[in-house]
Amino acid sequence: MPITVAFFDTKPYDREYFTAAAATHGDLELRFLEHRLTENTVITAQGAAAVCCFVNDRLDAKILTRLRDAGVRHVALRCAGFNNADLAAAKELGLAVTRVPAYSPHAVAEHTVALLLTLNRKIHRAHNRVREQNFSLAGLVGFDLHGKTAGIVGTGKIGRLTAEILRGFGMRVLAHDPFPDAVWAAQHRISYVSKTELFAQSDVISLHSPLTPDTHHLVNEPTLAVLKRGAYLVNTSRGKLIDTAALIEALKSGRVGGVALDVYEEEEGVFFEDHSDHVLADDELARLLTFPNVLITAHQAFLTREALSEIARVTTENLRRRAAGTPFLDGTQLA
Ligand code: NAI
Repeated sequence: MPITVAFFDTKPYDREYFTAAAATHGDLELRFLEHRLTENTVITAQGAAAVCCFVNDRLDAKILTRLRDAGVRHVALRCAGFNNADLAAAKELGLAVTRVPAYSPHAVAEHTVALLLTLNRKIHRAHNRVREQNFSLAGLVGFDLHGKTAGIVGTGKIGRLTAEILRGFGMRVLAHDPFPDAVWAAQHRISYVSKTELFAQSDVISLHSPLTPDTHHLVNEPTLAVLKRGAYLVNTSRGKLIDTAALIEALKSGRVGGVALDVYEEEEGVFFEDHSDHVLADDELARLLTFPNVLITAHQAFLTREALSEIARVTTENLRRRAAGTPFLDGTQLA
């Protein structure tokens, strides 16, 4: 009997890569749904043995209970972050929760650096100008990354790769992590410092810590106050690491020199969708979009062929393992 899986919030690329991964065994019946998992849509999981969810699907205790009542036994997150899932509630309900902890840290680190280079050298603005036959260079002055200081907050898989790439540009790299890796740091001539020191000394700060109660609004008014004037901030981790209202004030005052975001505090329901025909209701996002020194991509750092293949491979394998009662792939089980 095939295992029925309800896939929430799916896009054409999800369908393409998951269909290919499922075809290798032919034992999964994939029910692709375009809507996100919310209180209103949880009913559409009825009859499925598992659900496959993404970063903006809601997995709070109430929704998990309704999933369990609908017959679901496995929540397979097709992402690395799991801040949207109440793991304690899942455990209590007997729901297994898995994720894909490391589908391609390279994809995210490379996008981080792409954002930084684009922001600094104003490639997005130059591209638009040249297409309009405006070949003027006024306002496009950047700075050499070589010799500047980068601060990496969170030196897990993605933070380390980002740090190593920036070392390759000849940057001095500072790092902050509650679990520092001295061997790695010495190998790459990277220094661990306190969060305050990192904010005070860095020309470029890149966030790579997960969203937890400790890291919520890690960038806020007090941290922005110690920032080196004109420093750049890049966030490809989770939107809620930044207090957006405080960031807007720091942009207005010039304390922050530029911001590149792949994630946004209130991205749920906005990112991943085409809203070009609608009025933007989010005033803070609208304000961010007015700054010439703010660059935003809509949570696409993971979007490479390699990452999508690996996400589909790991997730489909875990879906089979749950049904067969065999252990999940190493490091993928959360509850
Ligand atoms: P990881 O688990 O390998 O590393 C996270 C690091 O952050 C760990 O070293 C941990 O000790 C550190 N950390 C925890 N609390 C901290 C704190 N208070 N201050 C500083 N560091 C702290 O995770 P990985 O794979 O490097 O991913 C990092 C984050 O990137 C994920 O949690 C996820 O939110 C985000 N992500 C974003 C993607 C995108 O498409 N934009 C795709 C994949 C991940």
